[in-house]
Amino acid sequence: MKAMSLKSVTFMIFVAFLVWSSAFETCNARRGKHWRQSRSSSDSSLWKKKGSSSSHHRSSHNNHNGGSKPKPKPPSYHKPTPPASPPPYSKPKPNVPPPKADDGGHSEAFEAAWTAACKVESSIMIVPTDYVFLVGPISFSGPYCQKNIVFQLDGKIIAPTSYKDWGKGLLWWMDFTKLVGITIQGNGIIDGRGSVWWQDYPYDDPFDDESKLIVPLYNTTQKHKPIPVGSELDGKMPSIKPTALRFYGSFNVTVTGITIQNSPQCHLKFDNCIGVMVHDISVSSPGDSPNTDGIHLQNSKDAVIRSSTLACGDDCVSIQTGCSNIYVHNVNCGPGHGISIGSLGKDNSKACVSNITIRDVIMHNTMNGVRIKTWQGGSGSVQGVLFSNIQVSEVQLPIVIDQFYCDKMKCKNQTSAVALSGITYEKIRGTYTVKPVHFACSDNLPCVDVTLNSIQLKPMQERYHMYDPFCWQTFGELTTPTVPPIACLQVGKPSSNRPQSDHDAC
Ligand SMILES: *[C@@H]1O[C@H](CO)[C@@H](O)[C@H](O)[C@H]1NC(C)=O
Ligand SMILES: *[C@@H]1O[C@H](CO)[C@@H](O)[C@H](O)[C@H]1NC(C)=O
Ligand SMILES: *[C@@H]1O[C@H](CO)[C@@H](O)[C@H](O)[C@H]1NC(C)=O
Ligand SMILES: *[C@@H]1O[C@H](CO)[C@@H](O)[C@H](O)[C@H]1NC(C)=O
Repeated sequence: MKAMSLKSVTFMIFVAFLVWSSAFETCNARRGKHWRQSRSSSDSSLWKKKGSSSSHHRSSHNNHNGGSKPKPKPPSYHKPTPPASPPPYSKPKPNVPPPKADDGGHSEAFEAAWTAACKVESSIMIVPTDYVFLVGPISFSGPYCQKNIVFQLDGKIIAPTSYKDWGKGLLWWMDFTKLVGITIQGNGIIDGRGSVWWQDYPYDDPFDDESKLIVPLYNTTQKHKPIPVGSELDGKMPSIKPTALRFYGSFNVTVTGITIQNSPQCHLKFDNCIGVMVHDISVSSPGDSPNTDGIHLQNSKDAVIRSSTLACGDDCVSIQTGCSNIYVHNVNCGPGHGISIGSLGKDNSKACVSNITIRDVIMHNTMNGVRIKTWQGGSGSVQGVLFSNIQVSEVQLPIVIDQFYCDKMKCKNQTSAVALSGITYEKIRGTYTVKPVHFACSDNLPCVDVTLNSIQLKPMQERYHMYDPFCWQTFGELTTPTVPPIACLQVGKPSSNRPQSDHDAC
């Protein structure tokens, strides 16, 4: 809203639901590369006016079923008030009737609306409330778009669930690239309807290495993942699963208000972006949905993620290589695998991460709390990380550094490593169910300047074997007594710390 009222908004571009006619219109926007029209697979339930029966509030944690939606707000709530007032929602023209039953989807309407929005600075593309749109893989891209476009999402966008719509597999579903000042706002929902992908979870998909540390107490029957089978009617989903919403190569990106749920894979990703603001959003997918990270940041700088609720099947927030000046605060995480830096240094790559602050986070029922994970054989460094005021409850491993990360059964031992230094943990409090602290650092490049302050972690024997704090090649200091005592941390600096070569340093 702020952005809109500051700039004088002159145009309102509605998603033109030319669904009665869109099938026959030409379309200028670039479609997702492998998007194919599949009228044959139409399903009358794919679009509908949203029912009033599902009006859970957005902040309800585990609305995994894809059916819930936030309480509808009066349309005027999101209306900017420019001098020349735009047509209200109730005007018949832009408020197009619901789509026809045999329509193949609404990608074309979105492409047409984007093409129009792209041409006008500070334009607003509205996805109106109360409607559900089926949209295939789609790219909203610059670099020739004007600045400060607002994508006002009040309705619901759903992904196709037929393998036919995904070609051989795509890395993302909705892709925003090379834009300057792009905002997605509103109280709408982006639903990846990922369950069809999760069922097809192949055996060789990566798993979370820390699960090896979690040993059940009782020999309960192992839950086996269903064997991927393609039924005769419907084929198997591609093994490459899309991220629901990705921003690439953009400046000043804001995502606020919306819910992103049930992504086939990661929900929201930023790559090569400078200036990212994510706030008051909700990510929701089941705790056992494979590799469904909440928010991924990669090669991005100056990002703030705050005041959001993240429930998913993998890391709530994942900070990858090339990130600096990242501030995550007032976030609820769980279920999920916690907040992670990494994994870094895979396939002998160089990773550089610095100046990361994670604070005022509540984690419930997550695998990890705050974690740094790096592969053996990498290079580069992680420097300057503060984890502060993290409230954990029933978290398996609240504090983890794992420099032996390996998401397969075995990885070969290597000497080089991503160097970790200046990692501070303060006010990490609550309950754990497996091990309070697990620091596994590289033999060659021990972790240095690891500081622990006001750590209070109490055991809760639930279903797992429990362990004492563990440290390996971890140096630093305890600035206050801790609960439990963490005697394994080595005070001071390692005596024989072989510095990285210039080539390996960041
Ligand atoms: C646990 O169950 C597996 C098979 O379900 C069995 O092979 C194994 O011996 C059991 N282990 C224990 C400690 O009971
Ligand atoms: C991003 O926003 C900041 C603050 O509003 C502004 O100073 C900067 O010029 C913007 N960046 C670009 C590339 O427009
Ligand atoms: C570190 O990041 C914060 C934002 O999280 C920023 O305000 C601060 O200036 C950065 N510090 C340095 C030294 O770049
Ligand atoms: C790697 O090193 C660990 C610890 O020294 C050792 O237990 C393990 O057997 C080694 N693995 C391989 C594949 O050499």
